Amino acid sequence: MNTDKLSRRDFLTGVSAGTLAMMTVGSVGAYANISRRASKLAVLGGKPVRTKGWPDWPYCDREILKSLTETAKSGQWCRIQGGAHQVKDFQKAWAKINGVKHCVATGSGTQALHTCVEALGIGPGDEVITSPYTDPGTISSILSARALPVLADLDVESYQLDAGEVAKLINSNTKAIMPVHIMGQPCEIGRIMAIAKKHNLKVIEDACQSHMAVFDGKMLGTIGDVGCFSFQSSKVIACGEGGAAIGNDDELMDRCYTVHNHGTSARGLTETIGPKYRMNEFEGAVLMGQMSGVKERFEKRNANAAYLTEKLKDLKGIRPQKLYAGTESGSFYLYAMSYDKDYFDGLERKEFVRAINAEGIGLGPSHLKRGLHREPWVDHILDLPVYKKMYSAKRLREYKEQCVCPNCEQVCQEMLMLWSSGPLLGDKKDMDDIVDAIYKVYENRKMLIKA
Ligand SMILES: Cc1ncc(COP(=O)(O)O)c(C=O)c1O
Repeated sequence: MNTDKLSRRDFLTGVSAGTLAMMTVGSVGAYANISRRASKLAVLGGKPVRTKGWPDWPYCDREILKSLTETAKSGQWCRIQGGAHQVKDFQKAWAKINGVKHCVATGSGTQALHTCVEALGIGPGDEVITSPYTDPGTISSILSARALPVLADLDVESYQLDAGEVAKLINSNTKAIMPVHIMGQPCEIGRIMAIAKKHNLKVIEDACQSHMAVFDGKMLGTIGDVGCFSFQSSKVIACGEGGAAIGNDDELMDRCYTVHNHGTSARGLTETIGPKYRMNEFEGAVLMGQMSGVKERFEKRNANAAYLTEKLKDLKGIRPQKLYAGTESGSFYLYAMSYDKDYFDGLERKEFVRAINAEGIGLGPSHLKRGLHREPWVDHILDLPVYKKMYSAKRLREYKEQCVCPNCEQVCQEMLMLWSSGPLLGDKKDMDDIVDAIYKVYENRKMLIKA
């Protein structure tokens, strides 16, 4: 049935009661949208909701090219060369945007996190509590210091670390908490800071996805002892590979500089152990070329995310990521939601995703299948001599037993995510495409189960 060709009256008799109910409460809007939602699914040979692309991300404009060309011509390609200024300028700009005193730019978010772990003196025998739902770089930054990443379970609705679970895992080896602001939205950072204070623990905020987001009047990455960002290609501020650590503690940030500069301090003395993690001038040049418009893009992503949430709020079976009270904004690197197949008459998530993708919308399942606690690194480190030497056999046995995060596994099974760095820079019509595609699959779910 091609509803595009139906009269309005024919059409209204054909659409489901659900759609009409939604229309009357005003959550559906124009008839045009309803017609699109009721039409034949693209996966079954119908016309897709969307055939055009999305705003480019990362983008390349004149400003970026000018900045890059200037660096290429200058021959100042490394930040420690005399006239090099791009990385220094970026450090100043990023510190200013975040309202902090210091910024140390690195070659990636993973490098920034590892720099902070080392600068805080965390090493073999120590434990750091973090999330099982994150990029492997989070875990790697702790493992690279030969410390133990202890994974606390999540809250199923926010996908963030459950602060209560964090508290349960603290022992005499625990030195720090590394909360992750997953998808770019704030975790329960207030409660986590209170727990850290009570137990005298350091907090390294993994803000790798959460550029410029604000919780309770404070920017993410500025709440803990130190905060880390990633500027990897897909992120909302991007230079290919890049990262930064920010903070206000003069001594700690000086140590971060020293650690990331192969142990050589700003005073020119080789003082400690450290990898070489310096951001290079080309990465700095891209970031500087991207600074204009940063605020406008941030605001646009937030406005579009709020629009999507409003439009999806009445669709049972799709539950956008829960945001904690105190959340003023997010980076919306990813727009995530949970899928409940019971409201889709049992339609499996993978079939839902296949149908949505056919409509031209790049919504996908969680990028992690079960969580990092279920990946082979756990058994690998338990067998390494350094871990056997530095942690008691009892602790390692317990550790393995603690690697159980049922909520994280549930989140992985239910999650749908839309990579948003580019798409959430679109206009309202682009957002309507996303909403219409979701409703279209919902409206036609029975056809998919039969198909
Ligand atoms: C939450 C989180 N932590 C750490 C990282 C690591 O950053 P990078 O890829 O720049 O090393 C990422 C990157 O995706 C991330 O999303």
